Amino acid sequence: MRNINIGIIGVGTVGRSVIKILEENKEIISARAGAHLVVKKGVVKNLSKIRNISIPLSTNIQDILDDEEIDIVIELIGGVKEAYEIAKSALKNKKALVTANKAMLAYHRYDLQKIAHDIPIGFEASVCGGIPIIKALKDGLSANHILALRGILNGTSNYILTQMIQNNQDFQTSLKQAQELGYAEADPSLDINGGDAGHKLLILASLAYGIDAKPKDIIIEGIQSINADDIEFADEFGYAIKLLGIAKKQKDEIELRVHPAMIDKNKMISKVEGVMNGISVIGDRVGETLYYGAGAGGDPTASAVISDIIEIIRGKSSLMLGFEQTSQISFKLKPKEKIQSRYYIRLSVDDKSGVLAQIASILTQNNISISTFLQKEVKQKNTAKMLLATHMTTELAIKNAIDELKNLESILQDPYIIRIEDE
Ligand code: HSE
Repeated sequence: MRNINIGIIGVGTVGRSVIKILEENKEIISARAGAHLVVKKGVVKNLSKIRNISIPLSTNIQDILDDEEIDIVIELIGGVKEAYEIAKSALKNKKALVTANKAMLAYHRYDLQKIAHDIPIGFEASVCGGIPIIKALKDGLSANHILALRGILNGTSNYILTQMIQNNQDFQTSLKQAQELGYAEADPSLDINGGDAGHKLLILASLAYGIDAKPKDIIIEGIQSINADDIEFADEFGYAIKLLGIAKKQKDEIELRVHPAMIDKNKMISKVEGVMNGISVIGDRVGETLYYGAGAGGDPTASAVISDIIEIIRGKSSLMLGFEQTSQISFKLKPKEKIQSRYYIRLSVDDKSGVLAQIASILTQNNISISTFLQKEVKQKNTAKMLLATHMTTELAIKNAIDELKNLESILQDPYIIRIEDE
């Protein structure tokens, strides 16, 4: 069997797991790849950090990029700018690239596809760690129109929500735990504000629809404002609250969005708890398919990295994102304001006569119809919480209504919305 030499740029949690799994599962991996995988070098920022690994380390990225014996470069540094430069250099030097870097791909996946030509790029680890969702969309479901995709794409936020809902734990304690367990991003705000899930949804949208969109083009909202009232309302009306990445196809338009959503408690995806990820993909021919597993952590992510290495060695080369837009098939991103949903609205108001009428009037003027209404008195303060759910309406209508509600004197805090995902 031939040797395939690998260089790893960024030897942190995932890099160490890649090295460990290549060693401990050596025989099965060689049998599947038809080659011996040798990690020739690793590049790190700080050589004095204790890593308990036996490969030669350097602090100079060029030691990998310029090494003619290295066939495959694994980029695991995260971040956008430097990682993109590394990826370009690796491809320029005719080395196959494996990356787990969803942020970089969210901005540069089409640039890389263009530069790569026939040099393979693997990115299975960039979305949902150990779950083979990239290969499912690119290969397994390739005969289908993807009608809808709904995913819990970020483990940290799912962990936080699960702790808040099941254990009444507060937000900060849950986040700290997720960080200690190694799930969170170096910048955990990306986990909480929906940014990380947004990056992943954009990658999936390219595979499913050939859509070249950037984070600013889609709705991305996080979990930072969810409170106990929202959780209680959801529970009472039979919903779970999850941070969802949603893609839907309506004719030639594709809607993409990431936000907290109330979904029926009995749906399988509602039962995806803790740090786990789960994705439902509905194909027009296959129907609904479900994917569940660990979306973060060293070994699951390394499992995906190694699967890409094996695929590259096997020589199954194809267009990186597996989708050519043509005159016969070309999907467009639906403008944000045209997206339709039902909405839950939380309002904190002065508890006095006429307030409800003012609110109802603003909703009516924006053609928004209420389906459910709950009011809780906060006696000591002479205020009230109004929790309501709407029938189907548009982002534009809800945005206009919220802007008007904000201006009412009797509204004490900015209104908060959670979309209800009923279909
Ligand atoms: N921070 C990410 C998560 C790690 O929590 O899902 C995997 O991308």
